[in-house]
Amino acid sequence: MLHEGNHPSFDKLFLKTIIAITREPDCLPIRSEVPDGLRKRPLASPDQEFSLNCRKETPGERAFVAAMWFFFVIFLVDAAHSESLVQPLECRLQKLRTLMKDHQIQAYIVPSTDDHKTEFVPAPEKRREFISGFTGSTGNAVVTTTEALLWTDSRYYLQALRELPPSWKLVTMENSSSIDEWLQKNMKKGDAVAVDPKKMLAGTFKEYSSTLNNSGISFIAMEDNLIDRIWTDRPTYNEGNIFIHALEFAGEPYERKLQRLRKKMRDLKSDLLVAAKLDEIAWLLNLRGHDGEHTPTFVSYVVVRNRSATLYTDTNKVPPEVVDHLRKPGAEVEVSPYDNFWSDWKKDVQTHKKIFVPESANYQIYSRVPADKMIFKKSPLLDMKALKNPVEVSASRRAHIKDAVALCKLYYQMEREVPDGAHWDEIKATEILAFYRSQQKDNLGSSFPSIVAYGKNGASPHYIPTPETNLTIGTSAPVTLDTGGQYLDGTIDTTRVWHFGTPTPFQKQVYTALLQGVADLATTVFPQGSPAKLFDFVIRRPLLKLGLTFGHGTTHGTGLFLEVHEDYNGTFFENFIGSQEPGYYKRDDFGMRLENLVVVVPSAVQNDDNRDRLMTFSPLTLVPYESKLIDRELMDQSQVNWVNNYHNDVRKLVGDEMIKQRLHILYKWLIEKTNPI
Ligand SMILES: *[C@@H]1O[C@H](CO)[C@@H](O)[C@H](O)[C@H]1NC(C)=O
Ligand SMILES: *[C@@H]1O[C@H](CO)[C@@H](O)[C@H](O)[C@H]1NC(C)=O
Ligand SMILES: *[C@@H]1O[C@H](CO)[C@@H](O)[C@H](O)[C@H]1NC(C)=O
Ligand SMILES: *[C@@H]1O[C@H](CO)[C@@H](O)[C@H](O)[C@H]1NC(C)=O
Ligand SMILES: *[C@@H]1O[C@H](CO)[C@@H](O)[C@H](O)[C@H]1NC(C)=O
Repeated sequence: MLHEGNHPSFDKLFLKTIIAITREPDCLPIRSEVPDGLRKRPLASPDQEFSLNCRKETPGERAFVAAMWFFFVIFLVDAAHSESLVQPLECRLQKLRTLMKDHQIQAYIVPSTDDHKTEFVPAPEKRREFISGFTGSTGNAVVTTTEALLWTDSRYYLQALRELPPSWKLVTMENSSSIDEWLQKNMKKGDAVAVDPKKMLAGTFKEYSSTLNNSGISFIAMEDNLIDRIWTDRPTYNEGNIFIHALEFAGEPYERKLQRLRKKMRDLKSDLLVAAKLDEIAWLLNLRGHDGEHTPTFVSYVVVRNRSATLYTDTNKVPPEVVDHLRKPGAEVEVSPYDNFWSDWKKDVQTHKKIFVPESANYQIYSRVPADKMIFKKSPLLDMKALKNPVEVSASRRAHIKDAVALCKLYYQMEREVPDGAHWDEIKATEILAFYRSQQKDNLGSSFPSIVAYGKNGASPHYIPTPETNLTIGTSAPVTLDTGGQYLDGTIDTTRVWHFGTPTPFQKQVYTALLQGVADLATTVFPQGSPAKLFDFVIRRPLLKLGLTFGHGTTHGTGLFLEVHEDYNGTFFENFIGSQEPGYYKRDDFGMRLENLVVVVPSAVQNDDNRDRLMTFSPLTLVPYESKLIDRELMDQSQVNWVNNYHNDVRKLVGDEMIKQRLHILYKWLIEKTNPI
């Protein structure tokens, strides 16, 4: 799945619509003249909406209000009628503003993330969605006494326009100011802006604080979270115990990882370190959990001292075998309740000399440490985790083979049924694919919300089907599927484009250019440690020759049964696992993207001066391309060879697995799909 990354030319495409829509008047209920069908607010069930209790109602009133709500939904009444109804999102906004007034603050920031810099936050952490209605994975909200604004990146513009209520404004690249700059311009001297310091990274907090301070605006770390005060029926975390991620997948015992971490602490002369990012904690301790959405993490902190370490987490979710697992001699990790972290941190900070606070920690952790004791740097765990060991790489290869079987099952079935007129829609494809994945060994769901986009829906790179947008999949347009499973042995992220009818020459041209970019990049030889951004041009070049471009990044790191978007240091080193993904999006028409996960391996090419080792990429993803979308005449011989070799690998590795799973008909289909082009 594509990661964030704005691209100016891409943003221009969206601008006209966005400007038209951001000019709507504030605080009016939804009216029937929805512009171009772009704004479709999800209408939740009346029960859910009224459980908010904007004011205390008697049962009679409640029935009356419910009836009014029904009336509203059926007839989409105009503004005059609906003034008596307080829409849930408007109501939440009003309540927030009341609290802001009580606290004497003029602006409140609602970040997208939780206390641990999580990308896909689980239900109880979706505060920004609760207040704004916007469901995307990235986007911070700001509420002032008169305005409500959402910042997100270009992947989410169309979705934000659809989901935000009329009183909210989307801030786009064109506005090009960051939140702190906007606040600096729009707030007055003496105003106060507040944020929950656990929901903002230390670095961001300091930046905002200094920008605002320059204009005489105070920036307040308000530990009392105002959204939690309004959100009376906040959901709870998933059930499910923490479990051990076996050595056959992890490849290195946790005691060794802890030992290596302590060595790094010694090198930095640090006697206390806190880990706050959930994937770093899960990786360090070879543990996984069920708290995360699409990511098998558990809510926790880890504090490492010279001779002891503590895991702070929900102790009800720690079974005896996990307590035992954490008792390896010399690497004992004590388990303590999550809420004890803050009081213990205060004591630890007092009794230690040099304290390592990673850049991924929230501001509240940082703010508890005196400056003379602070080491504030990138977490040592970031590079340690990104550097996969050989066991992890082979585990990931196995996971990709299984996932390819699931994806091929869907491909085969749709290829058979769609042209015959059987009903398929985007949501059905998502559900059937999830089912096929669940049949594979060690599958634990999906690694991100599935992107299944038919025809014009594909023009929005990050489109996720909903009942309101769901299209029937037919034979007149391409369908893009950007999906992935979570397996004990690996995290998957694959994008393929299928067409069940006859593609247009332009669609073939685009698909071929994407594939050429993939092939060119896959065969690139480079010195170990090369910066990833150097490679971006290689993958874009075939499209640029057609005068086409796209607005998102082309690579991201990926974890091992962890985050689909994993942080890394921006260079390519041996055993790095990440994506390669060019795309093209034609507004109101179609979109296409091709994505493989690859691993960096030594190249067969020798470096003549023996200095830097030469590396290349080896694909982990093993799913056939669509030959009907390939125009072979446009490709050069080395690109054709790459595709044929790739298909050969798919046939051998995935084919063997199909036979093992007794999928003989599917195997025959795979042989056809992987014939030389
Ligand atoms: C963003 O820019 C557009 C066009 O200049 C403007 O209409 C809109 O109000 C701006 N939005 C915000 C939040 O400033
Ligand atoms: C700005 O920073 C200075 C120095 O830390 C502090 O004294 C002052 O109160 C701050 N101003 C505001 C508005 O927060
Ligand atoms: C803990 O480690 C630090 C830094 O490595 C060192 O300076 C200190 O003496 C150690 N403390 C103890 C009690 O071993
Ligand atoms: C990036 O991380 C890798 C893997 O840990 C490491 O080998 C390399 O030295 C790091 N490079 C930089 C520039 O930090
Ligand atoms: C998706 O759309 C199709 C056709 O418009 C419809 O039949 C199907 O019920 C929809 N599915 C959902 C879950 O809304």
